[in-house]
Amino acid sequence: MYPVWEFPYLTSGIILGIIAAFHILPSHLSTSLMWFNVLIERKAYKENNLEYLNFVKKNTLLLLIFAYIFGSLSGVGIWFSATLANPKGISALIHNYVWGWATEWCFFVIEVIGIYIYYYTLGKVSQKLHLKIGYIFAISSWITMVIIVGILSFQLTPGKWLESGKFFDGFFNPTYWQQLLTRTFFMFSIGGLFALAVASRIKNIEIREKVSRFSAKLGIIGVILGSLFLSGYINSLPKSSYEIFKNLNYSALYKFGTYSIVLIAFYFLFILIKPRYVHIVPSIIFIMVAFLGIWSGERLREIARKPYVINEVMYSNQIISKDLDAKGVKSEVEKFQKEGILNSFFLRDQIFRDWEKSDILLKGRILAKIQCSSCHSLQKSGLRPLPKLFESLNIKTKDDLLGFFDMLETYSFMPPISGTEEEKEALALYLERIIEGGK
Ligand code: HEC
Repeated sequence: MYPVWEFPYLTSGIILGIIAAFHILPSHLSTSLMWFNVLIERKAYKENNLEYLNFVKKNTLLLLIFAYIFGSLSGVGIWFSATLANPKGISALIHNYVWGWATEWCFFVIEVIGIYIYYYTLGKVSQKLHLKIGYIFAISSWITMVIIVGILSFQLTPGKWLESGKFFDGFFNPTYWQQLLTRTFFMFSIGGLFALAVASRIKNIEIREKVSRFSAKLGIIGVILGSLFLSGYINSLPKSSYEIFKNLNYSALYKFGTYSIVLIAFYFLFILIKPRYVHIVPSIIFIMVAFLGIWSGERLREIARKPYVINEVMYSNQIISKDLDAKGVKSEVEKFQKEGILNSFFLRDQIFRDWEKSDILLKGRILAKIQCSSCHSLQKSGLRPLPKLFESLNIKTKDDLLGFFDMLETYSFMPPISGTEEEKEALALYLERIIEGGK
């Protein structure tokens, strides 16, 4: 059992969620915005009007700065926070998908080099060659999505991999295609919003309107087809996800998600009809609307998997819940019941030099961090704060708490309690202390 990163008030899961939701903007932009470039660039050569290239230049600069600075930084942020929040989950994913990530990395390198070549060779190499560079970039960039969606969707629906343990059985899992197509089309909507922001800065009115109309058209096609595949994706979710949505009230996230899609569709429609009204301020407002929608959608996608980090196999608190014969992995539930969680705790010998004499509250505190802190704040306030939740259930004493632990497995969205009887006592004592207001 690895040490746990407890992030006070917010929980480590939310920190990872915030970084990951932000990353969606630049990452989906990097996969979509180049299509706007190459299609407008082609139009420029076809109509023999190089004024269009002003847009291409500005748009590429935005892509370069936003996607390849903020996108790369937040991408590293995801790795960093995910590794801290759930080292064993990341380790399991790497053991299965290291070659997936290695392949993605190769295409990512093509992207990173490609964007600079594309930007600095505009107007300096032949038109045909420049377009080719653009297409190579756009396709390589989309391939990174093709790969990462395999790993992301595997976490929710590992499918046949559960029996075979084979790379592609997990990769092409029951929600893979729907998620890939949803993201592929919505990426054009995200790209459309950014392209409109860039288009609004073009001085030549005729070009500004033409580019705006084109961007809104591509954007609205993205919204319509993306929504279609999104409903297919929602239908393909496992039954357990529906149960969790039903048990927990997440209607606000649903509403945010739906409203943002509808609002963005109307904005594209408006610009399609009246491109002369394109302006930087509404464009930025709608990028923020998109961010709210992304936040809601990605949160719901993560919640659909509760209480697992890899569905059916590993709980969010890093405890393996099932035997995986194909991988030679054994469930840890019984082992922890017999031997205890702290017995396998990485820092056991450093923290508890003399096991028998060690402070029981300290043991309880570490157990709470391991078992509860990925989803609950251990402070009085913050995200699902444990002291408050217990107060509202009128659970105060150690014995009440021990009774509650037995009930944990009846909650579809929480892992059951783990550990020996002695460890449960220690956890109950610590929780009793934090309900009273101590540390
Ligand atoms: C995978 C995430 C996850 C883990 C791990 C987790 N919980 Fe929860 N827990 C939840 C969610 C989600 C809720 C629902 C909160 C809400 O209704 O807003 C919840 C609710 C609760 C409630 C309120 C239940 C009710 O009926 O109102 C208590 C008490 C609780 N958890 C205790 C714990 C304890 C103790 C642990 C550690 C042993 C733990 N949880 C581990 C996700 C988790």
